[in-house]
Amino acid sequence: AFNLRNRSFLKLLDFSQRDMMFLLDLARDLKRAKYAGSEVKHLTGKNIALIFEKSSTRTRCSFEVAAYDQGANVTYLDPTGSHMGKKESVRDTARVLGRLYDAIEYRGFGQTIAEQLAEHAGVPVFNGLTDEFHPTQMVADLMTMREYSNNKPWHEISYCYSGDARSNMGHSLMIAGCLMGMDVRIAAPKELWPEEEYIAAAREIEARYNAKLTITEDPQEGVKGADFVHTDVWVSMGESDDVWQQRIDLLKPYQVNAELMQASGNPMVKFMHCLPAFHNLETEVGRKIEERFGLSAMEVTEDVFESPAAIQFEQAENRMHAIKALLVATLGQ
Ligand code: CP
Ligand code: NVA
Repeated sequence: AFNLRNRSFLKLLDFSQRDMMFLLDLARDLKRAKYAGSEVKHLTGKNIALIFEKSSTRTRCSFEVAAYDQGANVTYLDPTGSHMGKKESVRDTARVLGRLYDAIEYRGFGQTIAEQLAEHAGVPVFNGLTDEFHPTQMVADLMTMREYSNNKPWHEISYCYSGDARSNMGHSLMIAGCLMGMDVRIAAPKELWPEEEYIAAAREIEARYNAKLTITEDPQEGVKGADFVHTDVWVSMGESDDVWQQRIDLLKPYQVNAELMQASGNPMVKFMHCLPAFHNLETEVGRKIEERFGLSAMEVTEDVFESPAAIQFEQAENRMHAIKALLVATLGQ
């Protein structure tokens, strides 16, 4: 039956198009209610644990603001903030937190850790990013694309993800669009194509929802006619610094710059990025990359990032509305 109550949100592969549509509609309604000053609290007295084994700005703050807006309380556990994985197993931690909290958010490394938490906690577990997937980001990304698509039906909306596709964002964007029946392109060098098992899963979803999935090594072909161009960092959290040189060699042709945006041939094309992004020298890591490899080593150029086509901060705001929808749908009373 169709019901999100008490469900975990670990990966999109566990969710139907109807589930996602429900979350997207609810996120839109909650966003409107907040702007209109008419938001109603559905989570009064709920307690949510936020486990972060990697750092975060958007995901952590979105869970906190969403919870507070809805009357719930949160406990933030930073990478050193609990015994989990060090003095206490994931399974035991899950069994303790499940008795204290109504739900648990987990950001960390292996997807199996999130799955294991959900198996033993007895309360819903939300994946706030693992090495494999970033599902709450997908609710926000779909919400944002919908907002910028002038009521076009999903199957008429196209997007290209250009960059490291063997990653949480690559896997997630490949699957999210298929789930909505969209025209999805993944542009990446073969070495960085999504994991085989996730491609196979995406192909099934593509068929089920009549989507169109193209995986190509040619970034120009990938963006052709696209409504949105997405990218993400070339080296993700938890990966070794040693992979930078190899990634740059492989990914330079996939950099999102003015030329690639132009190659879409769509004057209305929009740029999206889950953030944080490397696009200039304003960050410590950005300066380090530039020092070692030059500016061309970044996934997006400053001119595209600052152009009117760029909607990454709308996208960032929508993380909060999307996460609020997830909390209300699963825990609301
Ligand atoms: N996009 C995203 O998840 O951002 P944070 O790492 O800041 O949470
Ligand atoms: N791929 C990036 C996404 C961050 C939100 C990472 O895992 O670091």
